Amino acid sequence: MNNFTFAASTRILFGENRISELPQEIRQHGSRILLAYGGGSIKESGLYQRIIDELSKDKIFFVELSGIQPNPRIESVREGVRLCRDHNLDFILGVGGGSVIDCIKAIAAGVLYDGDAWDFFIRKANITNPLPIGTVLTLAATGSEMNGNMVISNPETEEKRAGGHDDLRPKFSILDPTLTYSVNKWQSAAGVVDVMSHIFEQYFTLDKGTFVQDAIAEGILKTCLRYGSIVINDPTNYEARANIMWASTLALNGLTVSGKTSGDWATHAIEHEVSAIYDLTHGAGLSILFPVWMRYVLSDDTAPKLAQYARNIWNINNTDDKEAAIEGIEKTREFFSSLGMPAKLSEVEIPDDKIDDMAKGACLFGPIGVFKKLDVAAVKDILLNAR
Ligand code: NZQ
Ligand code: ZN
Repeated sequence: MNNFTFAASTRILFGENRISELPQEIRQHGSRILLAYGGGSIKESGLYQRIIDELSKDKIFFVELSGIQPNPRIESVREGVRLCRDHNLDFILGVGGGSVIDCIKAIAAGVLYDGDAWDFFIRKANITNPLPIGTVLTLAATGSEMNGNMVISNPETEEKRAGGHDDLRPKFSILDPTLTYSVNKWQSAAGVVDVMSHIFEQYFTLDKGTFVQDAIAEGILKTCLRYGSIVINDPTNYEARANIMWASTLALNGLTVSGKTSGDWATHAIEHEVSAIYDLTHGAGLSILFPVWMRYVLSDDTAPKLAQYARNIWNINNTDDKEAAIEGIEKTREFFSSLGMPAKLSEVEIPDDKIDDMAKGACLFGPIGVFKKLDVAAVKDILLNAR
């Protein structure tokens, strides 16, 4: 195990009705806030009114930024930066899923930066002095509620790029599982696939001696297997929503990668290319690509870890590592399909005429992945295998 520093500084307020503590959490960091949310689900569910009531009770001044889309756009970021500057705001509250939270991180980073916020995503500028942010999470998937990562799309250039900084970790996140009761089957399933994919990205490495990290990772995967179909078929099951919600947060807050050299993240880079162009739901893209990637990277070097996964998660008894790995990959595919997630790009009507562009885009800053390094040709093969 490598040396590491682990500091996941976000305060998590987990459980039903924790929204009543919102004003006191905000007051510790600011008093003039940007209230940011998505396309309307929070109005339909009544959450919007509850939040307005809480803010008004405590006379917290707020300005609204609404309409943040899934695969959030740089234009929403620019608008948010303008609002923060025009109204002299000192805190941002995001209410929603990963898209809203990623968008407010980019806004927070952009307010005190002289240039355009897109610079953070093309490695043209470093993040310094972001505004503090807090979140009310409404969809369990990305882990954005407790990490410093953000992913923003630029439709003009057909790019979707990641950025991040530890200072972008939310100061607090309210995780009330009942707020996810209204998430539909498709988004719930995509969320479960995303959580599992975050574990895969950090579990499938060649590091040695990380038993505890692997054990935590396997526990989170088992949680997804146990509760994945329940959140879809019994959406108001508190136990299932609560377990998936906490799993999503733990899967990408630094816990399972600490002590390892780095995560792999090739599959995410490839998926971001797909959703940049076709606006596909992130988890659906991962459902198509992860089993294909696993099969593609299977080699003498990687077979032992893939076999460990197959044996510990899917109870595969095969003593041959490669055969066990292949059986585990098939089980993964079957599980994603059982959740109603797609297995091929053609299933979601994605043609293959932009595969070259996507492969080049995924490798814009050089080859990707650590479990097996992938160059443009390798990424192209994976995309072709995913048709
Ligand atoms: O916009 P509204 O009306 O709120 O509807 C949203 C949206 O249409 C809806 N929704 C959210 N909460 C709901 C709800 N509907 C009913 N009831 C609720 N309680 O769900 C739809 C999808 O929301 P979105 O925020 O896009 O989903 P998710 O949380 O999966 O976020 C996906 C985005 O996060 C990025 C992805 O690339 C994608 O852009 N990621 C961010 C990461 C990070 N910051 O660490 C890591 C991930 O790997 C990922 O790349
Ligand atoms: Zn993801």
